[in-house]
Parts: sequence; C-alpha cells; structure tokens
Amino acid sequence: MTGFRPRTAVLALALLGAGCESEVPFPTDDELDQLSALHTQSVKPEADPTNKWADNPDAASLGQRLFEDPKLSRCGTVSCKSCHAGESYTVETATAEGCGGHQSERNPPSLLNVGYSRWFMWDGRADRLWSQAVLPLTNPIEMDSDATVVRTRLSEEPTYTAGYTQLFGKAPADESDPDRLMANLGKVLAAYQRTLNRTDAPFDADVRRFLQAVEAGTQEKDPAYLGLKTFVRKGQCVVCHKGRSLSDDKFHNLGLKDTGAGRRGQADVVDTLVSWPLNAAGPYSDAPSGIDAARLPTLKAQAQSKPTEVEGAFRTPTLRNVALSAPYMHTGAEKTLEDVINFYNEGGDPAGTFVGVRTETIVKLDLSSEEKQALVTLLKSMTGAAK
Ligand code: HEC
Ligand code: HEC
Repeated sequence: MTGFRPRTAVLALALLGAGCESEVPFPTDDELDQLSALHTQSVKPEADPTNKWADNPDAASLGQRLFEDPKLSRCGTVSCKSCHAGESYTVETATAEGCGGHQSERNPPSLLNVGYSRWFMWDGRADRLWSQAVLPLTNPIEMDSDATVVRTRLSEEPTYTAGYTQLFGKAPADESDPDRLMANLGKVLAAYQRTLNRTDAPFDADVRRFLQAVEAGTQEKDPAYLGLKTFVRKGQCVVCHKGRSLSDDKFHNLGLKDTGAGRRGQADVVDTLVSWPLNAAGPYSDAPSGIDAARLPTLKAQAQSKPTEVEGAFRTPTLRNVALSAPYMHTGAEKTLEDVINFYNEGGDPAGTFVGVRTETIVKLDLSSEEKQALVTLLKSMTGAAK
C-alpha cells in the first residue's frame, strides 16, 4: 500500500496549489483509509455480555418461534413478524399495523444485521437488543402486551414452558418478577435476531478490487470509481456511513420533515433510557458494570452538554441490505433510493419542516445525474448474500 502514497500526496498538493480542487486524484491517503475500513468478510456480531443467552442456539430457536407467535400480543393477532416480515424483516409501507388497527409511529427498520448495532430504535431509546423487545411488546399501539399475557402464553404451550425452564432454570409460571420474565423473553428473541445476518455483498468485493486498482494506479478505469468517489468525497456519505457496518452508530439531525410526536428524536429519550431498569447497567443485565453499561453516563453527559446535538437527531442506519427495505428514513417518507439521493442532493428538507438544527455535513450537493445514478448503484451493491 505504501508504494503509491507519497506520489498521490504530492500530486494532490500540486493540484490543490493550482487551484484545481476537483482534480485532486481520488483517493487521497485519508480517503484511502476510509475506503479500506468499509469492506468486510463474514464477521459475526460482537459478543453481548449483557445477555448470557445471546449466542445460545436453543435460545435462538425458541426465540424464532416466539418472534412468529401472535398470541404474545394482547389482541392475539400481532407478532413481531407482523411488522418485520419477508427477506428484509420489515414492511413495504411507511408504518406498520399493530393491535386494534393502530399504525406504528415510525418506519419499522429491517432486522438484517441488527446484532451489529449498539443503539436500537431510530431515536436510540434502547441500548441492548434484548431490552428493545420489551418496547413493542408493551406498546399499546403495537402488541399491547404485558408480563401476565406473556406468562400465560408461555405456560399454556408445553414446548415453550420446557424451553424456557431449561434455559432459565425456572418455569415461566414461577417467575414472579414481571421485568425478569420480559427481560428473559427479550434475551431469547435477541438470540434469534442475532442470526439474521447478511454481510458479504458485491460491494465488499468491489471495494477490495478498487483498492487493488489504486495500488496499480488504474482506479479511474474501475467500474466502482464514480460511485465510491461520490460516496466518499462529494456526497460526504462516509462521514456517517462508515466502517464495516456503514454506520457510525451515532445520531444526527439531517433536517428531515417530521411533524410526529417523536420528532425531537434522541432529545426525548436519553433520560428515560439512562434510568430504565432494563438498560445495560440495570439489574436485568448480565454485565451491569461492563462496557455497554459504561456508555450510559457518557451519553447523558453529552446530551446535557450539547443539547442541540440530540434535538431532532436520529440514528445513522446501516446501509447494508438497504435496497431490500424501502421506504426509507425514520418517517418512511422517501420511497426509493433515488428519493433518498435527491433528499441529500437538496441538502435535506426545507427549514421549518423539522425541529432543531441541521448538522453541518448536510448541504446542497449539486450532484450530476451520473453521480446520482452511481450512488444508487453503489447502494444496491450493498445487499449481502442470502444464507
Ligand atoms: C406494529 C408493528 C411492530 C411490531 C409488532 C414489532 N415491531 Fe419492531 N419495530 C417497529 C417499528 C415502527 C420500529 C421503529 C420504532 C422507532 O424507532 O421508534 C421497530 C423497531 C424494532 C427494532 C430496532 C431496530 C433498529 O435497527 O433500531 C427491533 C430490534 C425490533 N423492532 C424488533 C421487534 C421485535 C423482537 C418484536 C416483537 C417482540 C417487534 N419488533 C414487534 C414495528 C414493530
Ligand atoms: C451527517 C450524517 C450523515 C451523512 C453525511 C449521510 N447520512 Fe445517510 N443517514 C444518516 C441518518 C442519521 C439517517 C437516518 C435519518 C432519519 O431517518 O432521520 C440516514 C439515512 C440514510 C438512508 C436510509 C436508510 C434506511 O434504512 O432508511 C440512506 C439510503 C442513506 N442515509 C444514504 C446516504 C448517502 C448515499 C449519503 C451521501 C449522499 C448519506 N446517507 C449521508 C446519516 C448521514
């Protein structure tokens, strides 16, 4: 890799000096580092010490059955799968239907590769995959359930009772702590969801090939050249969609039109998360003093010291498998990937349609139609191989 670096740097400087910024050869050393961090090969989700059953195959198979069981809902007709179905584990509409015909407030995210995330929900109100599950279960407009409904269901189905007892050492009927019962259910649901991975994508092979072309000095002839260059340079996409998961695991205000009750995004949820008994630091966590727990006080301190950064901020989603999960954004307002690119090209939605301050990276991009097309092609190449 080092062979060409001085050459690129010298050229870049020479061209910058000539006042010809758009001609700086792509990639510069910094851009090369960003590109090198993007590709992956079948890396499993990181271990989750807060859930002892996270990688337990018996928990995963029980979790799959429970994920698909509508009788865990109070109305008896809504399962996790009702809103997270098909190959992308989501729905094709902007919102999804829960108990009583209620519509969810936001766009259900795909669950593919969800085990790689650090924060869950668009606003980050859950910090662990297992505790996330308790939110739709108890949400009156989603599954409208509680520990009593869950205990009854686990107890009336003998294979559930046996599976639960084997994993947790106690029958569901004997679990008197409602939060413990819900946390345990969340832990088996998480074990299942951690298996829903699609990683190796044409994108990964393209990036590897492009990096070799850079070494050979032939990158401009590579078919991925324009897409990668626009993603990294003109579009600034890589500022947030970075690394193997194509997400910085952070929250940003893009200036996306939202008139819903949850439009303040992360600003509304930090305090609740930090004091939630089901968070990574709480009594139901299997590692209450581990690194996941240590992130919570930091989160709170950041939110307090920089309130504008959490106002209207939503989580950067992974772009892996993004072609499978239209419509897009937390509102589901962008119907296609072309629409998403137009949103970014405009520098986001007009002022006055969203709360808070738009993050400074989101500006009008002035992309050519070739650049837009190249970005869409690049996004479509991020679909991983089906298992
Ligand atoms: C009525 C539809 C509905 C049901 C039922 C439902 N979900 Fe969801 N799910 C959503 C919506 C909508 C969101 C996004 C909510 C938000 O961010 O405010 C979501 C978010 C998630 C997330 C976070 C993903 C991410 O990337 O942040 C996970 C994980 C998830 N659901 C799993 C489940 C599980 C497990 C169940 C069953 C216990 C379930 N869902 C039931 C609609 C539903
Ligand atoms: C400042 C950080 C940032 C930058 C820069 C950025 N994104 Fe995003 N991206 C996000 C966030 C945050 C969301 C979710 C926003 C929301 O729903 O409110 C998102 C959402 C998306 C989505 C929708 C994904 C889904 O599952 O709904 C796509 C596609 C996307 N971005 C592609 C891009 C492309 C292409 C670029 C470059 C032109 C780009 N992003 C630049 C942070 C960023």
